Amino acid sequence: MGYLIGVDVGTTGSKALLIDEAGALVASASHDHTLLTPKPNWAEQDPAEWWAATTASIREVMAESGVSASEVQGLGLSGQMHGSVFLDERNDVIRPAILWCDQRTGEQCDWITEAVGEELLVAETANPVLTGFQAPKIIWLRQNEPANYDKVRKILLPKDYVRFLLTGEYATEVSDASGTSLLNVEKRQWSDAVLERIDLSKEMLPTVYESPEVSGKLTVQAAEATGLAEGTPVVGGGGDQAAGAVGNGIVRPGIVSSTTGTSGVVFAHLETPAVDEQLRTHTFCHAVPGKWHVMGVMLSAGGSLRWVRDVLCAPEREIAAALDKDPYEIMTAEAAQAPVGSEGLVFLPYLTGERTPYADPNAKGVFVGLTLRHTKQHIIRSVLEGVAFGLRDSFEIIQGMGVEIGQIRASGGGARSPLWRQIQADVTGLAHSTINMEEGPALGVALLAGVGTGVWSSVEEACDAAIRVVDTCEPVPDNVEVYAKYYTIYRALYASLEKQFDEIAELVV
Ligand code: XUL
Repeated sequence: MGYLIGVDVGTTGSKALLIDEAGALVASASHDHTLLTPKPNWAEQDPAEWWAATTASIREVMAESGVSASEVQGLGLSGQMHGSVFLDERNDVIRPAILWCDQRTGEQCDWITEAVGEELLVAETANPVLTGFQAPKIIWLRQNEPANYDKVRKILLPKDYVRFLLTGEYATEVSDASGTSLLNVEKRQWSDAVLERIDLSKEMLPTVYESPEVSGKLTVQAAEATGLAEGTPVVGGGGDQAAGAVGNGIVRPGIVSSTTGTSGVVFAHLETPAVDEQLRTHTFCHAVPGKWHVMGVMLSAGGSLRWVRDVLCAPEREIAAALDKDPYEIMTAEAAQAPVGSEGLVFLPYLTGERTPYADPNAKGVFVGLTLRHTKQHIIRSVLEGVAFGLRDSFEIIQGMGVEIGQIRASGGGARSPLWRQIQADVTGLAHSTINMEEGPALGVALLAGVGTGVWSSVEEACDAAIRVVDTCEPVPDNVEVYAKYYTIYRALYASLEKQFDEIAELVV
């Protein structure tokens, strides 16, 4: 029997899992990373931590499963997208990696848009340049740390740095490369036009592969570090969203995922590239060769609930610890005591600025409608509802682009809560299903490794082997009606507060 490994280099930690040739999970392990925030709005990480967490996780998975190194047929890599790892001529990391959630590059986004011209930029990259994306980070380095910039020989995305340590190859794949603002998304290759206009050399960038393609093989040193066999093939893999979509079976038209992790993402498969006229969603290459996807990205979905847990729910955390339960279970049980609509309390989930639908790094979290009657039950419920309203924004945009939404698969930590799934179904008026696997991106890239090494003949076939729907949550018509009214209010609130968000941002630098 052959086995496949999937590795996900996330923001909070790196995870490795092992599946068998039937797509069933055999073992998984993960290790945390530290997030560095040297200034407000900055987010950095030491890439050495990704390597340490990845190798430790792979070793644990191998030990737990009892599978021998020679039985592992291939490995796939997924990871947090958009980050920049700058390497010098000795392949040493020059400075900490700048991450997807770092917001320092507003000026550089404007500079790139001006230098390239918005029309050409969208024609080439299918997207606006956003603060999280990679290209503005490179320009930031050039403008703000010229001595470091002079040393740069290669620039890699997070998972591709781990790939470099595994294989010695400078390689990426189309889905993650789509989030750099440097890829021609339609042609699936680096954009000469953009690179030339912002004066970057293609030499600095890795080779681009399709996601299931073999991008390199494990070196002797990497074999030693991971306990895997030298020569084990490493496939392209995918950015965490495209990889997670494969892990959810979002590889055909009509099946859409709604993922509530730290961020909240609505992801739809596209047969041909399509771009929202107002550029509120991202159009990227899919991890399915020759296909694309569109996604709406909220920056604080589960992140909003985590904030409530950390700031307001110390007693719930204590009760959970005493009962050996997840604090979110206690919190959502409380939220279930509050009525639909939280008796007029509306939450805007913009705790770390927003991407879809507003692309506004200054947007803030807000509670509107607080009265003496409101309890913590209402507050928790309104956060669950506010995030669901934000997800509905993405569904509406994607539907408005003419993309078919036949079935929604709810995934991520938030999908574990039946209450939150029900709220999402009621707010959108659309049934939300769950599948048999919860492993998301790491599973997706293990499946891609199987496609690249001949276990399955296509990504679709791999998904059919591993993934099936196990449960569906239908919207309750009465609740849909109530939420429709609240959604209208929610939609209007951002416009009313946009100016004040900017003013606050000027006060708090
Ligand atoms: C996608 C995005 C996040 C990060 C971190 O555009 O920014 O999914 O990849 O998870």
